[in-house]
Amino acid sequence: MPDRLLYADDCLNVLNDESALPTGSVDLIYLDPPFNSNSHYNLPFKGKYKTARPVEAFNDIWFWGDEEETHLQDVSADPRTRSLADIVRLAQIMERGEGGQKKRSLAAYLLNMAIRLMPMRRVLKDSGSIYLHCDPTASHYLKLIMDAIFGQKNFRNEVVWGYRTGGVSKKWFGRKHDVILFYVHSEKAPYTFNLQKEPSYSTNSPPGFKEIQKHQDEYGRWYTLATMRDVWDINAIGRTSKERLGYPTQKPLALLERIIKASSNEGDIVLDPFCGCGTTVHAAEALKRRWIGIDISTFATGLIRKRIENSFGLSVDSIVVHGVPATIDEAKSLARRDKFEFEKWVCGVIGAEGMFHEPGTKGPDGGVDGLLKFFRIRENQRLVPEYAIVQVKGGNVTPDAVRALKATVDQFDVTAGIMVCFEDQMRTVENQRSKETFRDVWGAYPVIQGFSVENLLANTDPRLPFIVKRQGASLIV
Ligand SMILES: C[S@@+](CC[C@H](N)C(=O)[O-])C[C@H]1O[C@@H](n2cnc3c(N)ncnc32)[C@H](O)[C@@H]1O
Repeated sequence: MPDRLLYADDCLNVLNDESALPTGSVDLIYLDPPFNSNSHYNLPFKGKYKTARPVEAFNDIWFWGDEEETHLQDVSADPRTRSLADIVRLAQIMERGEGGQKKRSLAAYLLNMAIRLMPMRRVLKDSGSIYLHCDPTASHYLKLIMDAIFGQKNFRNEVVWGYRTGGVSKKWFGRKHDVILFYVHSEKAPYTFNLQKEPSYSTNSPPGFKEIQKHQDEYGRWYTLATMRDVWDINAIGRTSKERLGYPTQKPLALLERIIKASSNEGDIVLDPFCGCGTTVHAAEALKRRWIGIDISTFATGLIRKRIENSFGLSVDSIVVHGVPATIDEAKSLARRDKFEFEKWVCGVIGAEGMFHEPGTKGPDGGVDGLLKFFRIRENQRLVPEYAIVQVKGGNVTPDAVRALKATVDQFDVTAGIMVCFEDQMRTVENQRSKETFRDVWGAYPVIQGFSVENLLANTDPRLPFIVKRQGASLIV
């Protein structure tokens, strides 16, 4: 298995593919799936463009349908999984009478989680562990599902991760914790667990206490190092966090580092089947573990690839990527199959904020596919943030489209426009583009430029003074 592996796919497909993930091959699984939060998670916009139509990153609303009916029958028919079917039926009983026909369904959510958690047990090594990240919306039901799949005896901790970011209600205590359920694969085999320590402060220190303390923090307070508890106070990713990439529900690196250090060793394989913008794989890379990330969104996996390559200075081919175009043929095939995903993929890799519209429609964004932020250095050495509009064409580029891009640049009052297309269309862009330039202290740059998908795959950047990349492609700056 390669050291770094990314899949843009439903994790169910990868987990059920024994050649992709052989039985007993993974040391640690951390998953942070949708929580049944009844929300759409969008990619945000900032500044003067924040009124643009939001783009969905992923959807966390669940309904009961034909597919669920089939899965429930399958799970009920197998004596080894019958208890899971009972838990799903329990959820159906609990939600009975709560709304109309098309009501959202906790049972559908649980069933979808159960069929993905089952093969996770298969891929774990005997010495392996799994951490399921969830929140109180469904954690008590998920605990039952985890007990049914991994066994009550293999339950180790319910970690409470407390944080302080986000809003509060005046009608109840601030809901400021998530739950992480920690199970091991087998009670018989020894499992990897590296004891972690945390500072322990004593407020009622007996005389002589200071002398036995070995550590003093930045405020001069003395502490001992004690065994880490299952209540963790780690800052969440807030608006001003340096780690923030803008991907909704991004988790802090410190949280993942703690889990990875505790339940794996250098060289071990860490799997995150719902990897979002790649916090787990980033922490795994930093801690010298091998890793596998899966996310259903091509956009997310494009972002991760850039994040890892930029943060660790890795070459383009050091990450094996499945489901995301790695060659021109694959990029062309995605463009033919799904224009919308193709646009998202290009914007993810180039580092642009998406402003996607459905293919074939002119959304309120006027057909702009993305906005790429960059800085221009003016004569007084000040860095001025500016934008380039990104237009993505997976097929032929017409002369009209190139001329229209200049009109859009003027209409949006931005500095530049980039037409991303395949190399064989670049001549049209070059012939038809406005030859105007803009300047900064380093020289002149084209107002309108073509940028080929071939260049994108070779990890080069468009000609702009200073593109903003924070640990990789950034959605928010
Ligand atoms: C809560 S986010 C994970 C955030 C991640 N821990 C991070 O720090 O960036 C959940 C992710 O699961 C992905 N997802 C949803 N359904 C999926 C599925 N069936 N297979 C794989 N990924 C899925 C979504 O695209 C989303 O990126």
